[in-house]
Amino acid sequence: MERKITSRSTAIVPVHLYGLPAEMSSISRLAREHGLNVIEDAAQALGAEYLGKRIGSLSEATCFSFYGVKNITTGEGGMITTNDGELAERLRSVRVHGEERPYWATRLGHNYRMTEISAAIGIAQLRKLPGFLERRRRNARYISGRLSGLRKLETPVEPKDRKHAWHLYTVRLRGANAGKRNSVVKRLRAKNIEASVYYETPVHLQPFYRRLGIPYRRDLLETERAARQVFSLPVHPSVTEDDLDEVAVTLEKILAK
Ligand SMILES: Cc1ncc(COP(=O)(O)O)c(C=O)c1O
Repeated sequence: MERKITSRSTAIVPVHLYGLPAEMSSISRLAREHGLNVIEDAAQALGAEYLGKRIGSLSEATCFSFYGVKNITTGEGGMITTNDGELAERLRSVRVHGEERPYWATRLGHNYRMTEISAAIGIAQLRKLPGFLERRRRNARYISGRLSGLRKLETPVEPKDRKHAWHLYTVRLRGANAGKRNSVVKRLRAKNIEASVYYETPVHLQPFYRRLGIPYRRDLLETERAARQVFSLPVHPSVTEDDLDEVAVTLEKILAK
């Protein structure tokens, strides 16, 4: 990250992928040293913690998503948290056509308002969040225990200094190529188990970014390898221990072949 910082850099945007917080201490230190802002992508990390602090309380701005599949949902929508009062005012203004007060536009803005109906759903969902998180956590712990004997499979790790929000429970097939991983997922799905591959094509290989003409060097080999080897298993709040037993037994059979 440090090597990528130039005089044109303004912010670092760490992504708390799958709901596991990124290593925020070193990211914050780097940002301070280089005079950069930190904007956290916590779309998947509502309820996660870093060094005992909730994600959303660490940086200038943290963005959450309430899209349908997230830990809580308002159908569509999201939230930005900040401890900076001035930034909060600016964001409120940009949300409503750049208005500083009604019908008084002082900056470029957009219509980014959340509907009242979505907000009402969000408030009800927030109350349910602790229960949702607990069930996700319990499911993740249970399936990790059930899969611990499978040598071909790496299960996700929750470092001691962080609390995972378990939006996605993503495992990695050791040494696999994409063909093998896809066939494992296909066989799980054939047994009605909702295994999924997220982010089959990493950002730097997406057609849009390739078209931008960013010189492509093969320097993200680990990203490309991970994209070929990972897949996710269901741990959402409606999944039961019986379901997870079935996932474990089926996966064990598939990997034994
Ligand atoms: C890591 C991550 N960032 C950003 C987003 C975008 O959120 P939204 O769809 O609410 O704009 C999502 C999910 O959709 C996500 O998973």
